[in-house]
Amino acid sequence: MHAILVDDQQSLVWSEVPDPGPQAGEIVMDIHATALNRADLLQRAGHYPPPPGWPEWMGLEAAGVVSYAAADGRWQVGDRVCALLGGGGYAERIAVPAELVLPVPDGLSMVEAAALPEVFATAYLNLCLEGGLQAGETVLIQAGASGLGTAAIQLVKTLGGTVVTTVGSEMKAELVRSLGADIVVNHRTENLGAVLDEHPVDIALDCVAGPDLGRYLEKMNRGGRWIVIATLGGDRTELDLGRFFRSGLKLIGSTLRNRPLETKAAVLAGLERLLWPALAAGTVRPVIHRTLPLTDAESAHAILQRRENLGKVVLKTGESDP
Ligand SMILES: NC(=O)c1ccc[n+]([C@@H]2O[C@H](COP(=O)([O-])OP(=O)(O)OC[C@H]3O[C@@H](n4cnc5c(N)ncnc54)[C@H](OP(=O)(O)O)[C@@H]3O)[C@@H](O)[C@H]2O)c1
Repeated sequence: MHAILVDDQQSLVWSEVPDPGPQAGEIVMDIHATALNRADLLQRAGHYPPPPGWPEWMGLEAAGVVSYAAADGRWQVGDRVCALLGGGGYAERIAVPAELVLPVPDGLSMVEAAALPEVFATAYLNLCLEGGLQAGETVLIQAGASGLGTAAIQLVKTLGGTVVTTVGSEMKAELVRSLGADIVVNHRTENLGAVLDEHPVDIALDCVAGPDLGRYLEKMNRGGRWIVIATLGGDRTELDLGRFFRSGLKLIGSTLRNRPLETKAAVLAGLERLLWPALAAGTVRPVIHRTLPLTDAESAHAILQRRENLGKVVLKTGESDP
């Protein structure tokens, strides 16, 4: 089979690689589509290797058709599925633990299904399990028009929360409003600190962090949970620990990719219960910015590098998309 490998010049090359050999408990999936995540850019640059046991090539999620499955499990050959991966989605085939596989929601294409697992699982893990989101709470979502942001906004709205979110353009502002965001802050023209004074939040899902984090954290409601999932804006900040402990705040660091299989399985089971019916009904939807062939992964990466995408960028293999 083929996969996209990174060569010595960090170029992406369509290369022949060995077929996957499934271990006990794994299914094999013929991949029809995979989706990009910002972590792919880090992995490509050599900073975010896959956890042990996963292929060396990029790709945190995929959708396709089961081509091998044990006789006694949930999945059968021919099932249309999508999967959360530790890596290896930029390929024609992958072996994946059966617990990390979900059905393609009714009515969705392979391209749409490939855009679901990583961002909806990250949103669910952090907002529901780490953050304990309750109906009526207010949530700050940094980078609302990112792939992750578009999933997180819809999850908060499904659970009855209020969304404050940041974007870098008016086009992105329009998109997040259409997904239900209540307060939209264009970080290029508006001051997030002033908005948080007026609308203090209970939870933050923060991929920006950086020097302003400490100042923003002080503005949270009592019992607030600030969850850092990346540091696009910088690794350092200054905290007023007096205000921090008196308000009973929590600062949480979190990654999905390196969690144990049981945690990821619990996240996917929760997601299937909560959001798969809404996806089939069309009340929650994956937001697809663009679809390109897997062999043109280079152009797809450039879209994320330029911060152009509104939602997800998806790569299709040569397979058809019924
Ligand atoms: N810890 C975890 O488990 C986990 C899992 C999934 C994702 N993440 C993180 O969540 C973030 C979103 O992921 P994604 O794949 O959805 O990303 P994406 O689609 O590439 O979107 C990222 C967006 O972040 C905004 N941004 C703000 N400050 C930025 C900066 N200094 N440099 C670059 N972009 C900046 C940009 O939007 P504007 O133009 O609107 O500012 C950019 O388009 C990433 O940082 C990713 O690493 C973490």
